[in-house]
Amino acid sequence: MINVAVIGTGYIGKVHLDALLQMPGVQVVALADSNLEMAQVYAKRYRIERVTADYRDFLNDGSIHAVHNCTPNHLHYDINLALLRAGKEVLSEKPLALNAAQARELWQTARQHDRLTGIDFCYRYYPAVQEAAARVRAGEIGRVHSVFGAFFQDWLLYETDYNWRFEKRFSGESNTAADIGSHWMDLAQFVANSRIVEVMADLHTIHPVRKRSKGAVLTFAKQVAGQEYEEVPIELDDSGVVMVHFENGIFGTFMINQLAAGRKVTIDLQVFGTQASLAWNHEKPSILWMGQRDKANEVSIESPLLQHPETARYARLPSGHPMGYHDAIYNLFSEFYDALELRQAGKPASPNLPDFGDGYYEMAIVEAIVASHRQKRWAKVEA
Ligand SMILES: NC(=O)c1ccc[n+]([C@@H]2O[C@H](COP(=O)([O-])OP(=O)(O)OC[C@H]3O[C@@H](n4cnc5c(N)ncnc54)[C@H](O)[C@@H]3O)[C@@H](O)[C@H]2O)c1
Repeated sequence: MINVAVIGTGYIGKVHLDALLQMPGVQVVALADSNLEMAQVYAKRYRIERVTADYRDFLNDGSIHAVHNCTPNHLHYDINLALLRAGKEVLSEKPLALNAAQARELWQTARQHDRLTGIDFCYRYYPAVQEAAARVRAGEIGRVHSVFGAFFQDWLLYETDYNWRFEKRFSGESNTAADIGSHWMDLAQFVANSRIVEVMADLHTIHPVRKRSKGAVLTFAKQVAGQEYEEVPIELDDSGVVMVHFENGIFGTFMINQLAAGRKVTIDLQVFGTQASLAWNHEKPSILWMGQRDKANEVSIESPLLQHPETARYARLPSGHPMGYHDAIYNLFSEFYDALELRQAGKPASPNLPDFGDGYYEMAIVEAIVASHRQKRWAKVEA
């Protein structure tokens, strides 16, 4: 068995736990959360014996092979670094760190210590997204020339919606570029098979002052009537639009917005080629649309039988049974643990997995977005 620990049992920590508990050959043996009471509740529910408020308690435990870091952004650097130095294989939440310098150090440390790393850019693991990427690589839409899209949410619509993501000390220099822009950019680069090299960004803060509840607020939690609030000036963006240049002359644009009423997690990606177009939307994630000029457009539904053979393994249910967010995360974790099993057996592994190198590149793009926005000019990605 591969023994795993999870740090952070907030919103995404529980999603990790749900996926890990289904994974063959893997067992979760320890949980850590500075909110010990909450971690104890989940440890009991998931029957995990070891629970601590301080992840350092298990750093030197050689029986723990891999650790998932599900803490807020400002802790990713310190915790990931400590884990790598302690010889753990690390699957981290995104963004990899608060800035590109930290992310680069993590990537270099992982390489020095020869550790397997992964970063949870989960949306690329929907079977229809893998299929889109395979079609681009097979030349089925011709040469990609442009990309369009968006990532919309509405959980921060009201001025009484508050989250740690608005504070620089927790998020770094941008909220939306790092929080949801990083997901869209990972998807776009993965499907277009090309890296973003230059950006022109316009970030906005629609509510410059928000009302923070004096009680504890959990991510995505519903507001409760009768709460007391304090006014807080907002340091970071809650929305924006970015023009991008990819390698090979591909150009594109995307909008990020956490105040788009009714759009819960709407991720839109459209990739245009010289022969055909591809479109995917997270509201109907099983579907891949292929647009053609001289014949009828095509709608494909995820299917282990009908997809490109190298992507069929991601469609884990018989055709017609839709997969979802937990399944995409399970697919990413499977890639990570399959590779780990091979490495532990002394065999080479080259997983189809976003790793700390990708996490570093994303942070370099986020920095370019912030520089472009502040200086009102195109900014090159320095990586
Ligand atoms: N990949 C995705 O789709 C996805 C989705 C949501 C969040 N995320 C990422 O996951 C991370 C966590 O986000 P969230 O929404 O779950 O936040 P959250 O606030 O719901 O949970 C964070 C948890 O970390 C715990 N924590 C804080 N300090 C700690 C410490 N020193 N040691 C141990 N635990 C500590 C908190 O008590 C809390 O339980 C963020 O980096 C976010 O960007 C990724």
